[in-house]
Amino acid sequence: MRLVLVGPPGAGKGTQAEFIAERFSIPKISTGDIFRTNVSGGTELGRLAKKFMDAGDLVPDEVTNAMVRDRLGQPDAAAGFLLDGFPRNVAQAYELDAILSDLGSSLSVVLDMEVDHDEVVRRLSGRRTCKQCGHVQHLDPDTDNTGVACDKCGGELFRRDDDAPETVRHRLEVYAAQTSPLIEFYKSRSQLASIDALGTVEDVTERAIATLSPYAN
Ligand code: AP5
Ligand code: MG
Repeated sequence: MRLVLVGPPGAGKGTQAEFIAERFSIPKISTGDIFRTNVSGGTELGRLAKKFMDAGDLVPDEVTNAMVRDRLGQPDAAAGFLLDGFPRNVAQAYELDAILSDLGSSLSVVLDMEVDHDEVVRRLSGRRTCKQCGHVQHLDPDTDNTGVACDKCGGELFRRDDDAPETVRHRLEVYAAQTSPLIEFYKSRSQLASIDALGTVEDVTERAIATLSPYAN
């Protein structure tokens, strides 16, 4: 399966990507995660990406496209992949077509995760990520979370820099202006499947897997 997840910041793309990738035995390729690994590793790519990420803006296409081309050309992506966070605008969607065409393949499906604005803001305000294993979880902002650790590996949790409320607001604007046109783009090509991404993590996983199963070979 060659799959793309789309949806606003906080829709649960990263959360569901873990389960979907495992269920269909495909690598999860998250451009946000790759950028964050490069930022924390102090690489040239990370240095370049950081100022855009901190502002909640998209990293320039030429940088992102080259990174994705390189990643999709690696052997583990030959039999399928899940892309989380790419493409992020229509120009990147055309570039993805070109990359896949050069590799002799094409997309199976684009899964659109639908959530409302208030829920996205609620989810992002409590998001924490594990420093050790990268697992994403949610902490209730109204309770005392002192000493709470990763519920997967016990590692230390951190809050992403771009989850500050004013940056979240800007990321949502960027999504509306630049990324949401992808929904019509893929719908017009009959490549879009949408799910309701409200409800528990388990319910959303179940819906996603039921919707995607017909595309697995
Ligand atoms: P990226 O990391 O992709 O961020 P994003 O698209 O803004 O999406 P998020 O990771 O914020 O949300 P998510 O949908 O993954 O939600 P999550 O599962 O964490 O990109 C970051 C930056 O990198 C960009 O701003 C840009 O600068 C750059 N970048 C990346 N790709 C790029 C590209 N292609 N081009 C240019 N620049 C690019 O869930 C959120 C929270 O909700 C968590 O706390 C989770 O536990 C909780 N949650 C999830 N599901 C549920 C549920 N069902 N019920 C209750 N809580 C839930
Ligand atoms: Mg994410």
